[in-house]
Amino acid sequence: MTRRKMLIGNWKMYKTVAEARAFAEQLGRSAHLLADSLDYAICPPVTALQTLRVVLPTKVALGAQNIYFEQQGAFTGEVSAEMVRELGARYVIVGHSERRNLFGESDEWVRQKVHTAVASGLTPILCVGEDLRQREQNETMSVVERQTMSGLSDLTGEQVATAVIAYEPVWAIGSGMTPSPEQAEEVIAHIRRVVSDTKGQETAKQIRILYGGSVKPNNIAGFVAQPNIDGALVGGASLEVESFVAMAQAMAGGEQS
Ligand code: PGA
Repeated sequence: MTRRKMLIGNWKMYKTVAEARAFAEQLGRSAHLLADSLDYAICPPVTALQTLRVVLPTKVALGAQNIYFEQQGAFTGEVSAEMVRELGARYVIVGHSERRNLFGESDEWVRQKVHTAVASGLTPILCVGEDLRQREQNETMSVVERQTMSGLSDLTGEQVATAVIAYEPVWAIGSGMTPSPEQAEEVIAHIRRVVSDTKGQETAKQIRILYGGSVKPNNIAGFVAQPNIDGALVGGASLEVESFVAMAQAMAGGEQS
């Protein structure tokens, strides 16, 4: 089976509602440039979900950047899976390195969030990746293995098959540095083997695994040309319509809808 390639934008803490609306209106005028052979999603700040749901072209899905793992309760400042789903989110990013490192999210929290996402009908985008020290100490494979196995441990093979993993080396995020496409492929192929060993070969064939970290219009084609890389999770370069469309076109090889 062929896995549909995905282009997912992670806006982080950028864009007010007015700015998000302007992006969506401009993208709407370029929607014919987004090939139907790819899947698209934008993960805006939670405040912009409702507006984007109305204004974004229908072929671009929505995702949240975070949820809490409880369904409801006295958790000041948190949002639940059901709350973001109600606003149109189909995906949710879980375990992004900024959440792990700046907000202290443990593997255990990430596991619970992935579980809650799936139980609530959201598709989790589980982020895994090594930091610079781990890379220098040759721990890349063991780090992604641990994060992948822990993050998916509550899910059945069927549930894992429709989930998404993003391999994002921490040192490549927002830095302008990237591994070579071949290096990213090697890690992603390893992640797929881990999924195969723990959840079965069929599941591993179906799950989509993306690369993320300083992806730009001029380097995306090299990554997605690799056999195991099913698309990209993009921060900075997803904030402008021109570069979002340029990345989509580079992925589709110039094909239009
Ligand atoms: P970047 O961010 O594309 O700006 O490096 C990627 C991410 O954090 O998902």
